[in-house]
Amino acid sequence: FMANAAHQLRTPVALLWTQASYALRETAADKRQEALVALQASSGRLARLAEQLLTLSRAEPGSRRPRADRIDLTEACRQVLETHAPRAIERNIDLGLEETGPVPVIGDGTMLREMIVNLVDNALRYSKPGGSVTVKIAAVDSEAQLTVTDAGPGIPPEEREHVFERFYRIVGTNEEGSGLGLAIVREVVENAGGSVALGDAASGGLKVEVRLPLRSS
Ligand SMILES: Nc1ncnc2c1ncn2[C@@H]1O[C@H](COP(=O)(O)OP(=O)(O)O)[C@@H](O)[C@H]1O
Ligand SMILES: [Mg+2]
Repeated sequence: FMANAAHQLRTPVALLWTQASYALRETAADKRQEALVALQASSGRLARLAEQLLTLSRAEPGSRRPRADRIDLTEACRQVLETHAPRAIERNIDLGLEETGPVPVIGDGTMLREMIVNLVDNALRYSKPGGSVTVKIAAVDSEAQLTVTDAGPGIPPEEREHVFERFYRIVGTNEEGSGLGLAIVREVVENAGGSVALGDAASGGLKVEVRLPLRSS
């Protein structure tokens, strides 16, 4: 994993160096501004990748005892949707939350939020502009059920097992990415004693269903 992670970091770090050199060489103020904007965007993506690698290393067996916080999954979803609202507006996607109250679970709050971030990030990124993304959270019997649906192209059945592998990306995927998002989702969910499954949304896009044990008291 370490070798793979280092390899993943090498390309975006080299890009930062190139973009910084380019900005330094540029004398026209507007051109320099443009180069700095590109540099800033690349830095943001690199920070995101580092965060994903950190989450995965924390999910690694034996890395440390996972925290067992009392978490309200509804509140966690609300926070993630709030931070992603600007991205949704930018892409003209209707991002909504369907909830009926608190959904208490036991787990690591940071990891669970990161899991939701990766699902919402995918749904927004692979959706066509103008579509909608819905996050639904409910307590059903002794389970917390989190469903994220989008109106994108979905994932073909023969790819559904592979997309959970670390660094796996579907050939021909245009959006940039690391291939780590769904691996994080599965590892975090399984660490918390739950499961995740992919299906078809009624809208034609992808439906991701996460089930976690409900906290009883
Ligand atoms: N909501 C989605 N709609 C369509 N395809 C998706 C969606 N989420 C993930 N995928 C596909 O699964 C692959 C793996 O996803 P992920 O592990 O999050 O990595 P990344 O998004 O960095 O490529 C993606 O490359 C993409 O092809
Ligand atoms: Mg992703």
